[in-house]
Amino acid sequence: MRDDQDRPPLRVHWLRGRLVEPHGPYAELDVVAETGSTNHDLKQAGSRDRSVLVAEHQTAGRGRAGRRWVAPPRSGLFFSVRLRPEPVPPTRRGWLPLVAGVALATAVGAASGVAASLKWPNDLLLGPRQRKGAGILAEAVGESLVLGIGLNVSLREAELPVPEATSLAIEGATALDRDELLVAVLLELADVERRWRAAHGDVEASGLGERYRALCSTVGMDVRVELPNGAALRGTAVDVDASGRLVVRDGRGERTAVSAGDVGHVRPAQG
Ligand code: BTN
Repeated sequence: MRDDQDRPPLRVHWLRGRLVEPHGPYAELDVVAETGSTNHDLKQAGSRDRSVLVAEHQTAGRGRAGRRWVAPPRSGLFFSVRLRPEPVPPTRRGWLPLVAGVALATAVGAASGVAASLKWPNDLLLGPRQRKGAGILAEAVGESLVLGIGLNVSLREAELPVPEATSLAIEGATALDRDELLVAVLLELADVERRWRAAHGDVEASGLGERYRALCSTVGMDVRVELPNGAALRGTAVDVDASGRLVVRDGRGERTAVSAGDVGHVRPAQG
């Protein structure tokens, strides 16, 4: 009972009135009570460009690098967006997950009053301790990309999947209304994705590269990058390149670019 009061369901008609054509930028939006994974569902054939699927609960939520995304029903926002950015050449599409991070950090920061930054590629860090409050999983399906976003809204400390996680409630957000947060994130995402698409994926011409670097707390940091073969790369994160890869300069001055799909974890280097 307590959760029902703390965690009311999303209002699908209200959401459609703000987000779906002709009033909003999306082609369609559905809210389901429960599914395995919204990314999995939207990857199936038939979804149109700019379609959105939101779940109140996921039983098999997927995270990056084969991890899981676990959260109690209605404790956050769990949704996926299918996009067909046809004018953007494949070589530039690696930036879309980072562009989505720009939208997420901008919208959540503005709507909640909580300091928001990005850990490369697109983990949303919240509050003074910079703990993870949201993540993005991008998956390619032919010519389309599915962007899945999980945002912790009302999660309490005892419910956190790992101690390095957090939620908007824990960080003292001024707004915890999931309908309002979802509209804020999806409108910002539509706006930045439209700019990125209009610039044919050129993040410098569209200004999105500059916005990303301003939000990204990883660039400039000493990092330890876990590679798929079990090895680790240590150095200073110095930039994000034209393909969205993190450029790390090691102690000998050699630069290595690592892509999100090839990295288990990027952590601040210790000692
Ligand atoms: C990460 O940080 O590892 C990415 C987490 C992405 C979770 C979201 S929740 C909605 C969508 N559906 C999924 O199965 N995963 C993404």
